[in-house]
Amino acid sequence: MKLIVANWKMNHHFDEADAWLDDFFKSFSRHYESFKNLEIVLCPPSLLLDYIDNELMEDGIQYLEEVMKHDGKNMDDFSPEELTEIVIKQRPLKLGAQDCHYESSGSFTGDISASMLTKVGCQYVILGHSERRTGHGESNEIVAKKVRAALNEELIPIICVGESKEVRDRAKHLEFIYMQIMTSVPQDVKFKQLIIAYEPIWSIGTGITPTLAQIEEMAKLIRKIFHEKLPNLAQEFLILYGGSVTSKNSAEIMATPEINGLLVGKASLDEAEFSKICLSAF
Ligand code: PGA
Repeated sequence: MKLIVANWKMNHHFDEADAWLDDFFKSFSRHYESFKNLEIVLCPPSLLLDYIDNELMEDGIQYLEEVMKHDGKNMDDFSPEELTEIVIKQRPLKLGAQDCHYESSGSFTGDISASMLTKVGCQYVILGHSERRTGHGESNEIVAKKVRAALNEELIPIICVGESKEVRDRAKHLEFIYMQIMTSVPQDVKFKQLIIAYEPIWSIGTGITPTLAQIEEMAKLIRKIFHEKLPNLAQEFLILYGGSVTSKNSAEIMATPEINGLLVGKASLDEAEFSKICLSAF
């Protein structure tokens, strides 16, 4: 599977989200044959999740009607609950959140629990992004607790790892990522999909990307860690690259051995640019 994730971070209001979605669905119908082979996930600010879920439900039902007609099935054969579940699983754009708390409820001002995310139609959640690790003091241990909470709610965690420039300059990046993975990923749980996003901090939002050889070296290390140290943890294992991805570099990064997808920040804010990135995945 190829996976492209749009991380809007703290950007876009309702109107901008609306316009983006309209344009996305136009691109989707224009490029149906390519887009349908991709898992595309939108991670907007949490305030927009419920609103976007409703929008996606409408478009998703239309899409499902067409798919069912094509497969000779009928919408009336399913209960409303079954239909909601089918639409959430099959809609062309999946919904993800940018973070969640590790507790299921309680006095955690400003936080959102994993179950709240499931209730607004999220299937994915980004955890351990470097902006959370540095800006909100999240340790590897906290990230691991969040991953458990996400799994308990059947959310698919996208676990971010990445070294700073200082660590890379000291040539300690391989050890650093090894430790980050071994302590951020809980090892006594089962993942349906285990997704690791390699995002070097020095590349996020800077316009600087690692060389393809550097990306490949890291992706190979990550796969080796799971193969040798954490086998059988997941049914499916995916590695994403994130950090200054644009439509100019996305095709070559996607073609890098061991890379299964992209986590796109700034370039995902512009729908046309994001769709170009999705199309370049083939
Ligand atoms: P960027 O961000 O694409 O703007 O560099 C990527 C990320 O932080 O996920």
